[in-house]
Amino acid sequence: MKTRRIHPGAESVRPENSFKTFAAILGFMKKYVWHIVLALLAGLVNVGSMLGGNVFLRRSLTVIENFVEAGVPRAESLMLLGQNVGIMLAIYFVGALGGFISMRLLLTVSTGTLYAVRTQMFEKMERLPIAYFDKRTHGEIMSRYTTDTDALREMISNGIPNIVNSVLTIVGVFVLMMVYSPLLTLFVIVMLVVMILTVGLIGGKGSKYFVLQQAGIAKANGYIEEYVEGQKVVQVFNHELKTIEGFREINGDLCKAETSAQTFAQILMPIMGNLSYINYVVTAVAGALLISAGHLEGGAPLLISFLTLSRQFSMPLTQISQQFNGVMTALAGAERILKLLNEAPESDDGYVTLVNAETDEKGNITEADTRTGKWAWKHYHRMTDTTTYAEWKGEVEFENVSFEYEPGKPVLKNVSFLVKPGSKIALVGSTGAGKTTITNLLNRFYDVTEGKIRYDGINIQKIAKDDLRRSMAMVLQDVHLFTGSVRDNIRYGRSDATDAEVEAAAELANAASFIERLENGYDTELTADGVNLSQGQRQLLSIARAAAADPPVLVLDEATSSIDTRTEALIEQGMDRLMRGRTVFIIAHRLSTVRNSDCIFLIEGGEIIERGSHDELIAQKGRYYKLYTGAFELS
Ligand SMILES: Nc1ncnc2c1ncn2[C@@H]1O[C@H](COP(=O)(O)OP(=O)(O)OP(=O)(O)O)[C@@H](O)[C@H]1O
Ligand SMILES: [Mg+2]
Repeated sequence: MKTRRIHPGAESVRPENSFKTFAAILGFMKKYVWHIVLALLAGLVNVGSMLGGNVFLRRSLTVIENFVEAGVPRAESLMLLGQNVGIMLAIYFVGALGGFISMRLLLTVSTGTLYAVRTQMFEKMERLPIAYFDKRTHGEIMSRYTTDTDALREMISNGIPNIVNSVLTIVGVFVLMMVYSPLLTLFVIVMLVVMILTVGLIGGKGSKYFVLQQAGIAKANGYIEEYVEGQKVVQVFNHELKTIEGFREINGDLCKAETSAQTFAQILMPIMGNLSYINYVVTAVAGALLISAGHLEGGAPLLISFLTLSRQFSMPLTQISQQFNGVMTALAGAERILKLLNEAPESDDGYVTLVNAETDEKGNITEADTRTGKWAWKHYHRMTDTTTYAEWKGEVEFENVSFEYEPGKPVLKNVSFLVKPGSKIALVGSTGAGKTTITNLLNRFYDVTEGKIRYDGINIQKIAKDDLRRSMAMVLQDVHLFTGSVRDNIRYGRSDATDAEVEAAAELANAASFIERLENGYDTELTADGVNLSQGQRQLLSIARAAAADPPVLVLDEATSSIDTRTEALIEQGMDRLMRGRTVFIIAHRLSTVRNSDCIFLIEGGEIIERGSHDELIAQKGRYYKLYTGAFELS
């Protein structure tokens, strides 16, 4: 079982290098260049319609003014007015259409981009070395797919379009205002500076609480995740009240941070609103004074149109300031996503592969297309451009192997052994001695720190990892079952196994009898990691899975620890039949399991301290003897 950090730390909500990250996001959107260009054009149409609409508003007002003041005949005025209003409506309609098209195009861009990002993340995750997962909690990895992608979606489909649209609006409105009256625009600019300063001040203060709010959410999520998984332990030790207490505290902090952050966010709107009203009044009064002094050419219609524009000027400003925090969070999330995508994949420079083999009359090994039950190492020699085949034997050799998971903390020290093909080796020793580590090195979940591992005389570094792992079925210490039927789970060992082969494997692992008693037999659906099965049944299934793989080498890590002694004896018989002539490593705490192995390695503190058959070790009267006779309990 994985251990978890008690309270996962808050993750940064500020990007380290916004520019680089943004460029990388754009890289993901490359495919959608035309969508983006069209969306921008449609956005321009939208902004343009707002300005155009304003121009026709002014014209309509002028028509009315001329009717009232200059005495233009009613019929003529009405016709002109109708014309102007009609054009104005058409312009606004086209603008709305542009806005809709732009949104729809950007939606395609954002969902498509996220699809690509998620797929790439998952593909990368499947190729990462085991060590990557050692260093991270599940919650941390999950949040790349949830929180971080969500923030990214928000930014692509909402944040950036809003900002772009706002900037376009500001520029367009500004230009039109200058055309209407540079003098009045000056008033607006002064107000604008005041507004920007206010946004800067409040936004700056607020962003601190915004960071706190994000951290609080992360912390609460981590806490909930941990206690969902640990609920049984909580109840066993009566920790409910303490757990609730802990959550109250975290939840309280979150509440405070949220209140502060939202206060700042909400203060901004009314302040900006009021400032823009003040601006409106000041401009209106100034405009009226200018008109009465005869300094404003367009008169009242121009002033009214100008005032409408100035209202449209401050709105996008508020919008930009509101999007800012969201964009920063998204960039920080995108940075973490990119970090995952740039993680070095599990390296594999192996070139020796494992193939199905046949021996012809002359005794030469040739490659076969079908499963023959015999294997050969296919060795390609680049120098001579030739391929040779070597018989697969199943000999495993460790030569002075040392290993450390973390630098400076040796776990295996100078381990050497030679396992003859077809023998059954038992690894015994106390908890934490390094038994699982030996198997982790054998299938290259990790690479040796020092020394060499040879498989049929070939350094395993030269063997392609897929083939190395295909050559050995492992029943891991942590049983994991996938969502799906019992049959699917057994077939996981070898996807082309027929139904008959799956059932034979279950028979061999002695799992058949319990499977047949299940409601739907082999088609019974397993829920979340097989919680609807007992531990022993789960283990039987994982052994059946290994049996279905029908591999040359089998590694059983504590595979029989939850199984009763009688079933265990039956499995052993089945396995012995399956593994005849193949190499087996079996790790067990129960000495009865290891008794009939060909050779037993007793491992302590990362070293093999005794080795030999059961009888030899008993005769030695060493540590194994003490363990076996019960003078010494395994810890
Ligand atoms: N992923 C890891 N990162 C760091 N240290 C590890 C890791 N896995 C195991 N260790 C350390 O390596 C040592 C050997 O662990 P290993 O799992 O090989 O023990 P084991 O003999 O299989 O024990 P058990 O009988 O409990 O399964 C332990 O001290 C453990 O703390
Ligand atoms: Mg172990």
